[in-house]
Amino acid sequence: MHRSCKENTKYQTAAQFIADHENLEQWLREIAVRAATSKFQECEFVWSAFTVQLENHMEVEEQALFSNFAQSGAAGAAATVQALLAEHAAICKQLEAMESDLRHHLKQHDEVQSLLALLRAHEQHEQETLYPWFAAQKGASSASALSGGASTPLKGVVRWRN
Ligand SMILES: [Fe+2]
Ligand SMILES: [Fe+2]
Repeated sequence: MHRSCKENTKYQTAAQFIADHENLEQWLREIAVRAATSKFQECEFVWSAFTVQLENHMEVEEQALFSNFAQSGAAGAAATVQALLAEHAAICKQLEAMESDLRHHLKQHDEVQSLLALLRAHEQHEQETLYPWFAAQKGASSASALSGGASTPLKGVVRWRN
């Protein structure tokens, strides 16, 4: 599934990406609570909204931030972006695996916890690398890293499900 970045205008600061992470974690915890009590209809509804938000978040990062960061000249930026892309791919792989039999996977406490662990590790990585750079960009210039990077996705990156 390929989503257009209709919501990328909401990401004007690093704090908005970080707030997204917090919201996504909260949603996943809600899914886990509903799964534990076998409220699968609610689970599936929240899961669907969660994946839309998560996919949009990652797509905006890939299209608007990663290539600018990789080309910024910051120490280790290109390697960091490759690692962040690999983490996005791992998150998507886990989402796909869980969607194939959502009820079964939601019942498995370990599955939800392993997705949560993946997300947390990735979020920490971004908060230590990508977002400080983005915040500095926003502070140093009135030019927007978002608008500058929106049309230059990294070459050879294939991640989104069709
Ligand atoms: Fe990300
Ligand atoms: Fe992120």
